[in-house]
Amino acid sequence: MTPEQKTISRILKVNHAGEYGAIRIYRAQIFVSRHLHKDLLAFLEETVSHEVDHCRMFREAMAARHSRPCYAMWLWGLGGYALGLMTAIMGKNAIMVCTAAVERTVHRHLEEQIDFLAGRDEALKVAIADIQAQELGHLLHAEAHIRPGPLNRGLSSAICVSTEVVIWLSTQGAVSRMQRALSPLPQQSMPLGERQP
Ligand SMILES: [Fe+2]
Ligand SMILES: [Fe+2]
Repeated sequence: MTPEQKTISRILKVNHAGEYGAIRIYRAQIFVSRHLHKDLLAFLEETVSHEVDHCRMFREAMAARHSRPCYAMWLWGLGGYALGLMTAIMGKNAIMVCTAAVERTVHRHLEEQIDFLAGRDEALKVAIADIQAQELGHLLHAEAHIRPGPLNRGLSSAICVSTEVVIWLSTQGAVSRMQRALSPLPQQSMPLGERQP
């Protein structure tokens, strides 16, 4: 495999694991919301249906690109379910803070990948761009429903950091090697709203 093919294989591995984790987060939140937050069910159920589609798409794209699911899928399943349960028990606002934190992390990773895949794997680039549009919808919905609160920042930071750590651990550092292989993005640190199209 060329270094480029290795990076594409790692992109699929990271994304497939991430989507699996997202499914488990939303399923745990749905489980609790059936009892405590019925008004969130429509959003959570539509969102998890998107994540299931994303997970399947990445799984199907693997064979042709010499990629396989990451060895620590159980970690994603367990961690995702625990995070979903914890935030849903904390309340509706914690669910939205969690959704925004996870989706923001996903959005950033996908943006880097789209940049890398341009001219290298157009089919995968287009598929990821479609997925990114749905992830952005999840992010914007969550951000629009977050109420100000003293715990928001701490919870959001904890989720972002732990998501990054699990991504790194579960791929044995593949994500770091992937990021080193990607071109630097000058707009990467800018808030979403201020980026040029
Ligand atoms: Fe997704
Ligand atoms: Fe999402």
